[in-house]
Amino acid sequence: MISLNNKHILLGVSGSIAAYKSAELVRRLKDAGADVRVALTKGGAEFITPLTFQALSGNPVHTNLLDTEAEAAMGHIALARWADAILVAPASANFIARLAQGRADDLLGAICLATDSTIAIAPAMNQQMWANTATQENLQQLRQRGILQFGPGEGDQACGETGPGRMLEANQLAAHTANIFETGLLSGRTVLLIAGPTQEAIDPVRYLSNHSSGKMGYAIAQAAAEAGAKVILISGPTALATPPRVERINVRSAQQMFDTVMQHVANSDIFISTAAVADYRPINIAQQKIKKTKDTLTLELQRNPDILAAVAALKNAPFTVGFAAETESLEQHAQEKLERKGVDMIAANLVGEGIAFEADENALLVLTAENKQQLATASKFMLGRQLINIIAKQHHI
Ligand SMILES: Cc1cc2nc3c(=O)[nH]c(=O)nc-3n(C[C@H](O)[C@H](O)[C@H](O)COP(=O)(O)O)c2cc1C
Repeated sequence: MISLNNKHILLGVSGSIAAYKSAELVRRLKDAGADVRVALTKGGAEFITPLTFQALSGNPVHTNLLDTEAEAAMGHIALARWADAILVAPASANFIARLAQGRADDLLGAICLATDSTIAIAPAMNQQMWANTATQENLQQLRQRGILQFGPGEGDQACGETGPGRMLEANQLAAHTANIFETGLLSGRTVLLIAGPTQEAIDPVRYLSNHSSGKMGYAIAQAAAEAGAKVILISGPTALATPPRVERINVRSAQQMFDTVMQHVANSDIFISTAAVADYRPINIAQQKIKKTKDTLTLELQRNPDILAAVAALKNAPFTVGFAAETESLEQHAQEKLERKGVDMIAANLVGEGIAFEADENALLVLTAENKQQLATASKFMLGRQLINIIAKQHHI
């Protein structure tokens, strides 16, 4: 079963008779968990209507570049940033030529120029058009630029001829698209991750906790699994679904999280601490619900174990990555945390009202002893993948 869980796929549809297969493709991509937006070229819209794609994708369809309303809703730059990957299927000979020239005179061309995400094309055309030197030279240029090519297949063609140029089937294209995210960068490695808040009991019905949603940690867990790692996610209480191929262990308190980490850390190559672990817990947990009798109530708290520092201090410590959530002086606090806790890497982000904790987007400053890197505001899934790429590089040094 292929997975495109939480992926933003921009499907470009250009002017080929194979465009009818793209309707099925939207279904397959969505079945795999993707959020799909469709950009239709002028030629594409002659073969299949925007209405079909709007109904199937559940999103508005994008057709015009020089249209004030469309640009205001979600313009070409916004679409280029939104996409985790762009799949042009079918890619007509004419569109392939435009892409090779780097033209931005239509919406899909402009999006492809403005993105730094992976672009894949699924060519579809008559076998003579396919064999033409112009087409082959254009394709060679695209491959050299890192643009992926899915297919084409061979066989009977709509024009009555037989040969190469048939667009691959929808299920094949969906599987190839899912493979874009399977980097294998961490295959054979075990990643231990902690995520979400902890709950520190006050009495049988109340607890101390924080605003952590767990979204960043779950996104990193997903990216690590896609990079081929075995992933163990030790999670505080969250409302999130477990990412595919991730083993999740639920805990509540910081102490439980600490104990569970210590059970699994010896077999881990990489430890990533994204959890918002409570620093303190009530010393006494009332056996019964505390009654509202007094005007003031004092809770005495004691320090919880520092999970990150404890892992970093282990004799055979894994490559250890901490998170720093700060409300001010981000770099300074992150640098201090890197040194104080003796970790290999710190990913720092600003938190506060409406920033980071419950949001779907974030920005990260990634520090190691040797260098620093700013990851610009993006979806937590995109940042998760970027962070896993950095960790994989550092870990293999
Ligand atoms: C019936 C018909 C079928 C066509 N099928 C294809 C095709 O499969 N592949 C292709 O590259 N061009 C095909 N063409 C030509 C393109 O539609 C034409 O080059 C168009 O300008 C491409 O539009 P685009 O640049 O927006 O993709 C076909 C044209 C017609 C009339």
